[in-house]
This record gives sequence, C-alpha cells and structure tokens, in this order.
Amino acid sequence: MGKRLKIGVLVSGSGTNLQSIIDRCQDGSLPAVISCVISNNEKAYALERARRHGITAICLKHTDFNGRTAYDAELVKVLQSHGVELVVLAGFMRIITPGFIEAFPNAIMNIHPALLPAFPGLHAQRQALEYGVKVTGCTVHFVDAGTDTGPIVMQAIVSVEENDSEDTLSARIQMEEHRIFPEAIRLFAEGRLKVDGRKVVYSK
Ligand code: GRF
Repeated sequence: MGKRLKIGVLVSGSGTNLQSIIDRCQDGSLPAVISCVISNNEKAYALERARRHGITAICLKHTDFNGRTAYDAELVKVLQSHGVELVVLAGFMRIITPGFIEAFPNAIMNIHPALLPAFPGLHAQRQALEYGVKVTGCTVHFVDAGTDTGPIVMQAIVSVEENDSEDTLSARIQMEEHRIFPEAIRLFAEGRLKVDGRKVVYSK
C-alpha cells in the first residue's frame, strides 16, 4: 500500500462513526491510518472500540484543565506528537478554540447530523422534526471558528417519515454518516480536496 494519511479521531460517545472509519482503514478502501483516538469522556465506548483494534486510545478530561485554551493546547500537542495530518471530529462534544483551528488549517473535519446550514448546533435531528422539513441528512465540513459553519465537503439526504421519532430519524441519518464520513476522508487522503473560499472543490 502507498502512503497512508495519519488521522487523529476525537470522540465523546459511542463511536459508531469511528467504527466506520476503522473498518474502511482495515479493508484497505481508505488510505489512512488512525494514529490516535482521544476522548474528553473516560466512559466513551469509542475508546473501547479503539483499544479493541489496537489503536492508541487516550482520555484527556477537560475538567483536569484550566479552561478551553489550556485543554486545546494539550490536544494539539498530543495530536502533533502522533504525527496527525487530519483531525476528525466524530461526535466530539466540545467547541474548539481558534488556537486549535490555526494549528490544523483546513485539516479538521466534523460530521453534523443535518443538511447545513440548516439546524446547526445541538439536537439537529429534533430541530428538523420540529421544523417539519421533509428531508434532512448529514454534512461533513471543515471546521472554522464558527459553530458548524465551515466549508462543506460532502452531504447526504435522508427523508423524514411522518411517524419518525428523534431516534428513528437519527438511526437513518447515522447510516448515511457512516457512508460519507470515510468517503470525505478518502478524498482528503488522496489530496483531492481544495478549499476555495466557502467552497470545497474536488479534483480528479
Ligand atoms: C453523530 O450523530 C454525529 O453526527 C454527531 O455526533 C454523533 C456521533 O455518534 N456529530 P457516534 O459516537 O459516532 O456514534
């Protein structure tokens, strides 16, 4: 296999997106290697998933640090010490600071469970249901200083059914997340993403 992109995955929860990335690294369809998985939550099942696959799993509790800037400085230090080239936020439930973003310019990706710019922030699926939209979905985007505002890399559409609950809708959105997040990372790994202002352009 040729050169593989080194990625660092930040997680807070169950880590189903992490799992989809692990699976695609393992089956060879994603030319990347996960250098480390970091969680702010020691109970995150995502850490267990990483360990089971022999991936370095690190817990950095934000409560052990004096504020966001100090915490993020440590995150950057750990990611850089593992040679990380792309930071992947896969259900990382923290807002990151400008210092972190500057350390990885156009090299931090997030997945959001709505079609941005609709329904940014928390509980995107609930927001979609309450608004009454007929379609929603998920968005992979580069992270900038705003909340869910960075250049969009990839999106997938999911229909909203009349009898959907937050759980049923979330489950169908997650199926699409697990498909497009590794796909977006693959394009990055192949050097095929160019950020031009707000737009992400794919090259062949
Ligand atoms: C996903 O729904 C994602 O869109 C959001 O956080 C959730 C993470 O789920 N950013 P998991 O931990 O990958 O299962």
